[in-house]
Amino acid sequence: MRADQIIERILVDRETLHRRLAELAQAISSDYEGKDLVLVCVLKGGVTFLTDLMRQLTILHEVDFLAISSYGIGQRDSSGAVRLIMDLKADIAGRDVLIVEDIVDTGQTMDYLLRLFQAREPASLGVCTLLNKPSRRLVEVPLDYIGFDIPDEFVLGYGLDFDEKYRNLPYVAVLKKEYFDGLPDET
Ligand code: IMP
Repeated sequence: MRADQIIERILVDRETLHRRLAELAQAISSDYEGKDLVLVCVLKGGVTFLTDLMRQLTILHEVDFLAISSYGIGQRDSSGAVRLIMDLKADIAGRDVLIVEDIVDTGQTMDYLLRLFQAREPASLGVCTLLNKPSRRLVEVPLDYIGFDIPDEFVLGYGLDFDEKYRNLPYVAVLKKEYFDGLPDET
């Protein structure tokens, strides 16, 4: 189905995304100047945000990726567990790690990631999320950089999928309610 058929409205347009990313990149570049920064990105949703953000950083850094599956977690069901399906390549012990995520919803995924990485004893561990849904939080997680606080609605685009598609949209949009009801159980 075409994107315009399932979208209710655009929530964050590309100019607003671009402006906010520049601000975030400036803050991160200043905070991590002279540090051994590793940006850690969660596949697949965080990739668009990461690649745009890193191109605006003015400091040296590395990037690494991990993949997780989050059964029953997400907008519709918060009762599931997170499982690691691909680990980082890098050894993060003693390094300055910044997790780059697309969205923090219930907080369960971020809670899992923070515990996983903290056990590896990085020099520091921070979180940068493009989107934050504070009204949905079940687990409190510290967020160091937030792009946008958004309301409790299902969003897609700019890396975020609806049924694995629409990640390529250059903006963040709200899904029409009628399609939200038809989402499968697994995110
Ligand atoms: P958590 O509930 O904070 O653990 O979020 C789990 C995952 O659900 C996120 O990483 C996203 O992949 C997904 N998710 C949550 N809200 C949305 C949304 O509005 N659109 C697309 N994916 C979402």
